[in-house]
Amino acid sequence: MHDLLIRNVSLPDGRSAHDVLIGDGRIVAIQPSIEATAGRTLDGDGYLLSPPFVDAHFHMDSTLTYGMPRVNESGTLLEGIALWGELKPTLAQDAIVERALTYCDWAVAKGLLAIRSHVDVCDSRLLAVEALLHVRERVKPYVDLQLVAFPQDGLLRSPGAIANLRRALALGVDVVGGIPHFERTMADGAESVRILCEIAADEGLLVDMHCDETDDPLSRHIETLAFWTQRLGLHGRVNGSHLTSMHSMDNYYVSKLLPLMREAQVSAVANPLINITIQGRHDTYPKRRGMTRVPELLAAGITVAFGHDCVMDPWYALGSADMLEVASMGLHVAQMTSADGMRAAFDAITTNPARILHLTDYGLAPGCRADAVLLEARDPIEALRLRATRLAVIRAGKVIAEAAPAVATLRVDGRPERVNWMIAGANSPAARAS
Ligand code: FE2
Repeated sequence: MHDLLIRNVSLPDGRSAHDVLIGDGRIVAIQPSIEATAGRTLDGDGYLLSPPFVDAHFHMDSTLTYGMPRVNESGTLLEGIALWGELKPTLAQDAIVERALTYCDWAVAKGLLAIRSHVDVCDSRLLAVEALLHVRERVKPYVDLQLVAFPQDGLLRSPGAIANLRRALALGVDVVGGIPHFERTMADGAESVRILCEIAADEGLLVDMHCDETDDPLSRHIETLAFWTQRLGLHGRVNGSHLTSMHSMDNYYVSKLLPLMREAQVSAVANPLINITIQGRHDTYPKRRGMTRVPELLAAGITVAFGHDCVMDPWYALGSADMLEVASMGLHVAQMTSADGMRAAFDAITTNPARILHLTDYGLAPGCRADAVLLEARDPIEALRLRATRLAVIRAGKVIAEAAPAVATLRVDGRPERVNWMIAGANSPAARAS
């Protein structure tokens, strides 16, 4: 007897009317009409079963602190960092833990089961580091939480940051972070990239830096990051987050930069909800969007993910752990409105971030851990359009969250009582993409 049998689902690759059989927490088989018995059978009703959402860029130490001690009036990155600096000395470990656990509840309910979170290491008490290491263990049964040692106030600019970062890594933080554009000079920024990449190479760790989160087209630390990635043989192990300066860069320079990133196998994470609100604040009109060049990065063969970055914190007042909202904003900002573009946006919150996090066992295939989300939509594009209800969230073969379908009842003469949000047939974007 197996644990779970999910009947009649569609899959992100376009297969339909398939069953998924799960045993010992892993996917045993995916095929039409499986003949087997299981402890629980779930009727997929033709809906989309996707691997869970993955957020490649988040800040769990600051989440849900909106308004503490005041809100960000200018809406800029710099006021957000200053505000976080005011808040930091007042932080209590149990409150960080409680907020992070609440956020993980939201994440699970939204089918988001893997998160890479940066954690600020510039407070010598390492309060947030200890809190999130505790949370990482607490949520392990249901969320893969990966932590990045993030010197928020600058590795060289903030006294003691290098030592604190090393202490955080020694305590068990997973990934080396950085913020070269926040150093005092371009030269210091470049130097911080070298130091951090060398630490990662020495320790055998992955790298994920906040990089060029600015509208300054001459902020080119991504070039330095790709250079040190190649020099130190860190290919495929380094990610550049934000990369917003690329939005404003000269096209000729970008034509040199993208092949360098590709050769170094440096991946990229854009954070559309945050970049569309934080960037361009010094512009009058036209106002730049500020998000990095996602379609061009993808066309160059670079792995790109969309991250949530912030939820209800000094930088962003909204958000609900909904990666479909993140991808929807991303595809709008990047004008990825072709059928293939929308399909790529779905990959940017599932398979691409899974690759960036180096997740093992991820995916819908026999042998993978049985993590999945059943969406009230028949294909990835419909899921994006409807921000589809997460009907069931499955972790290692167990249903760990469920939600009722999105039902609206009409009281209009001559029209059906139940609203149908689905457009069937050749008219649908998914049909055109296939
Ligand atoms: Fe960030």
